[in-house]
Amino acid sequence: MGARPSVLTLNDGSPDARLAPLEALARAYRRALLRLSREGLGYGDARGDGVLREVLSSFLNQARGLSSRPEPLVITRGSQMTLLLAGKALVRPGEVVAVESPGYTPAWDAFRFVGAELCPVSVDHEGLRIDALERVLARGRVRAVYTTPHHQYPTTVSLSAARRLALLSLAAEHGFTIIEDDSDYEYYYASRPLLPMASTDELRSVVYIGSLSKLLAPGIRVGYLVANEQLLEKAVEARATVDRQGEPALERAVAELLEDGELQRHARKARRVYEGRRDHLVSRLRAHRHLREMLEFDVPSGGLALWLRAREGVDVEAWSRRAAEKGLLFVPGSAHGAERLARQGFRAGYAALEPRELDAVVTLLGKSA
Ligand SMILES: Cc1ncc(COP(=O)(O)O)c(C=O)c1O
Repeated sequence: MGARPSVLTLNDGSPDARLAPLEALARAYRRALLRLSREGLGYGDARGDGVLREVLSSFLNQARGLSSRPEPLVITRGSQMTLLLAGKALVRPGEVVAVESPGYTPAWDAFRFVGAELCPVSVDHEGLRIDALERVLARGRVRAVYTTPHHQYPTTVSLSAARRLALLSLAAEHGFTIIEDDSDYEYYYASRPLLPMASTDELRSVVYIGSLSKLLAPGIRVGYLVANEQLLEKAVEARATVDRQGEPALERAVAELLEDGELQRHARKARRVYEGRRDHLVSRLRAHRHLREMLEFDVPSGGLALWLRAREGVDVEAWSRRAAEKGLLFVPGSAHGAERLARQGFRAGYAALEPRELDAVVTLLGKSA
């Protein structure tokens, strides 16, 4: 039997777990587990470990301008669970949740799971289109709007300051809640990032969702929900029903890494590495004669992926199938929505690949185009 050809994956924007401070996390986990075992490792608080809530709350307030308090903040097992809990706390079956489209379909699944009717709102070079949302609002009541304003998923654009303000004022006027999914806040390259919308609103109309999936690795399941007390109470009830509580030792270990600055140091290092990888991929794509004609893209100011738009008439799904035959896996943009914008593009996550791997990706993309 011959050697199996190796397969490269152009993921949708995962970090490089090889860079994460996992040794430090493992040591902190061991310490936390032994300490907690002396206390009996019994059932704990459904809101999550109290020490992590304390440390995370002051971190989010300081670094992102939030006004969270440790009491109501809920630790979860990542954004996916948080989206479900936020949906359950907010939405009654049959109520409408407006979602960016193209968008992050795992969030759509979570909202559908709690009985929401989804209403797609289109996206352009400034993010969620406010005029399109206004048309939806004119048709009837909307309970919540789900958005990824820092880097829109999948197109990577940042929601402009004017649209953020417009969205917040529409929320106040129409009484809907903004579900702000801020999965990659740490990754900005050009300048300081815009603060989350949740920082300007004092949690009146915004619920804020984040996780460690992009900072450390998706396999480390720690996320959080910051919202007003009323909503959080309902989210905690839902959490206790599906998953009683999180894992105290992991949560305590994360608290230690956050408190002694290890996570922040890692974020600074990872930011430099990923910016270099973004620039490497951009320069290789621009230098490739064939791909240069096939693809267009804007260089995102942060995040972990490029959104590549194929030239008119190119069948991206067929391209993805041909690439898979040559050993390169990528998900065509049609997975993120039904509109032309989705079908003509695909996400190229660069962060988890080293420069030589990115070179191989570009070669395979070119060969299968
Ligand atoms: C928009 C968005 N939200 C959330 C997440 C992270 O999800 P989780 O925390 O469940 O791993 C991702 C990861 O790809 C994402 O792209």
